[in-house]
Amino acid sequence: MVSVDLSLPNWVEEWARGAPDLKVSPPGPKSKEIIAKDRRYVSDAYDRLFQFTMKKASGSAVMDADGNVYLDFSSGISVMNAGWSNPKVIAAIKEQAENLIHSMANDAYFDKEAEFAELLAEISPGRALESSFFGNSGAEGVEAAVKLSRYYTKCSEHIVFMGSYHGRVGNALALSSRVKFKYGHGPFPSGVFFAPYPYCYRCWFRQEYPSCDLLCIDYLRKAILEFGGPSGSLASVIVEPLQGEGGYIAPPKEFMPRLRRICDERRMLLVADEIQCGLGRTGEVWECNSTETVPDILITGKALGGGVPLGAIVAKKDIMNVWRPGSHSSTFGGNGLSMASGMAHVREILEERLAERSRVLGAHAIERLNEMKDHHEIIGDVRGKGLMIGVEMVKNKETKDPLLVPEIQGLMWRKGLLMITSGMYGNVFRIAPPLIISREQLDLGIDLFESAVTETEKRMEAGR
Ligand SMILES: Cc1ncc(COP(=O)(O)O)c(C=O)c1O
Repeated sequence: MVSVDLSLPNWVEEWARGAPDLKVSPPGPKSKEIIAKDRRYVSDAYDRLFQFTMKKASGSAVMDADGNVYLDFSSGISVMNAGWSNPKVIAAIKEQAENLIHSMANDAYFDKEAEFAELLAEISPGRALESSFFGNSGAEGVEAAVKLSRYYTKCSEHIVFMGSYHGRVGNALALSSRVKFKYGHGPFPSGVFFAPYPYCYRCWFRQEYPSCDLLCIDYLRKAILEFGGPSGSLASVIVEPLQGEGGYIAPPKEFMPRLRRICDERRMLLVADEIQCGLGRTGEVWECNSTETVPDILITGKALGGGVPLGAIVAKKDIMNVWRPGSHSSTFGGNGLSMASGMAHVREILEERLAERSRVLGAHAIERLNEMKDHHEIIGDVRGKGLMIGVEMVKNKETKDPLLVPEIQGLMWRKGLLMITSGMYGNVFRIAPPLIISREQLDLGIDLFESAVTETEKRMEAGR
């Protein structure tokens, strides 16, 4: 096995190497000024976790308007996989901006769009997905997958999963499971059926893996498909191979192959939403590869654009080919900046073998976090793959009652560690740093996390 260099790349700026480094107690005066203006003029819909402003970023560190430097365990929600301000991505954007920003993908051909689609075909699971459609976000990719799967199968219903998140517009929101996101925005299209995701820590059926033999899949097959309401007009099963917003849940290895089998038997398409878990994050280029599952349509986004808005579907050729010119479209799809930036970012992930690096660092982090779990009553579960790790916080290990975590999160932020949450109860910390993070920085972040956990436990013991 080739060894992996786990130090920071040379291009990471000096100020970012010493993260975290807080100059003033956050939020400082400049940040407060920005936040006040934002509060006045920007919608409150964004769920800002920290009183935190973005000024610049490098590698795995982010600086706020007051010069405070934070260690970043979020990658901007799995976007900056090859590191913030990666020089190859910046160079590609600059060069492209000087030549062509808007490529008129609706009406003209563009070399980089064809080139990027070729690259995605070459790296697709089983090299079986040969045709791409580019849009501007993950949710647009989901919308495209829904439309294509209906167009191809001439069916209109979908199976999705409890805990799923597929985006905030139209069909993507209808396919998502949380009340918080859907509240007040209905009515939603009918024909969406929610199946239990293998959330083994809180098994829907109070079973244990592996003795359960994946009862949740059995339930999908025998209860939902037969008696759960579908009319038989099922177009697709849409699934996150490793659930993101649902709480960084890695399903047992049999899950995806069994879904594939059900789809084949019932003539439904298997759609893998790899928007959050794809592109090296889980230690594989695509999480589908870990079980050798070939979906019919793969949805990608987030890291795909290297920070420039981009989403895409990559599908089997015979499926994509059913769309006629005009069947689907987007003014900015395949635009100059997103193609140049995205291609540079994906190439960097491949050339620097960041999936492998993610696997090695992730295994190390999971080992450390599991040791921590043995010493801390409020750490209920540690799970995930590569650098997509979830740490589920509970009031105590026996009851598994979810612990409210904003306080721990605030403590970490004040220590200079950016860590965001997910999960159906909002109590799962995500460890998802840029994949170029050094082992040293990863350890430092875990130490900061542990100190915040210890402080919280002491306060809980004291009944405060
Ligand atoms: C699995 C998954 N699907 C879809 C989306 C929606 O992507 P976007 O926010 O780019 O529309 C997300 C975003 O978090 C996601 O994690």
